[in-house]
Amino acid sequence: MGGFPIRRMRRLRSGERMRSLVRETELSASCLVMPLFVRPGKKVRKLIEPMPGNFQLSVDELVKEVAKLDAAGVPAVLLFGIPAEKDSAGTAAYDEAGIVQQAIRAIKKSSPEMLVITDVCLCEYTDHGHCGVIVERRGGKVVDNDRTLELLAKMAVSHANAGADIVAPSDMMDGRVGAVRRALDGAGFAELPIMSYSAKYASGFYGPFRVAAESAPQFGDRRSYQMDPANADEAMREIALDIDEGADIVMVKPALAYLDVIRRAKETFRMPLAAYSVSGEFSMVKAAAANGWLDEKRVVTEILTGIRRAGADILITYWAADMARWLNGNDQ
Ligand code: PBG
Repeated sequence: MGGFPIRRMRRLRSGERMRSLVRETELSASCLVMPLFVRPGKKVRKLIEPMPGNFQLSVDELVKEVAKLDAAGVPAVLLFGIPAEKDSAGTAAYDEAGIVQQAIRAIKKSSPEMLVITDVCLCEYTDHGHCGVIVERRGGKVVDNDRTLELLAKMAVSHANAGADIVAPSDMMDGRVGAVRRALDGAGFAELPIMSYSAKYASGFYGPFRVAAESAPQFGDRRSYQMDPANADEAMREIALDIDEGADIVMVKPALAYLDVIRRAKETFRMPLAAYSVSGEFSMVKAAAANGWLDEKRVVTEILTGIRRAGADILITYWAADMARWLNGNDQ
């Protein structure tokens, strides 16, 4: 019968060629998306302290970064904006001359092939830092879901007008994918895909991002509209709703602590699936690597391979630039 299967398995694992012949999960630059932060000004590269190697960039600097990513084979960027002025309704988010709208136009001019995905959420644009419009109800402050939908739809259309390739609603309001879909269709963008942050957990791993995007809530937290980390069935329901409303790509976020959710989402829906390896996942490895406690390239390769193995097609990661470089055999 089978002889010595364990010994043969050992053989299959022995040399790099043999190993890659039977490898199940391939990591390649073509599945990476790099998040980038854009702010007003010229020649601005403002270091995001908890995320070494990441900067808030002015548009002129941003296009240089995008050109490098393009050359390294990274196919897409995900844009976040830090506006000059914030207000209670997040007006700068849907201004046709807003910071993200300017950035999209500039990227499309200098690196036309680069796919531009835009984050559609109000939290970077509101002075209170919440993802929607705040109203007083029964003596407390709450997010007005339906009023927020109108603004998100306006924001998505303004990104499409500027040339975005994919819009990515990340706010977790009820009905937002449908609202964005209808608005895009009505504005002549029936073919523009939506990547929905479908299963977005209320996570401590977003800490560094809130420094990066200057979007920490000024009161309360996001638990009324983001998911409880303990729930996975609920994630499947959220994803099903988004697909019903017209999502073309669905997302699980964060990634590392939710690999089971990624796997279930892939097996249940067989949809294009993105996983967002968020800021805190990046920062903790960076901090350990800076102390010499972890080999960064090795653990990042392992983490990103693990997220792919779990079932993600698309990896949104602050390591996109480095990983592409490493995959190209450039360790500098
Ligand atoms: C906006 C948004 C957040 C992230 C992506 N889009 C922050 C939040 O929900 O608080 C987090 C990304 C990261 O941590 O890298 N709503």
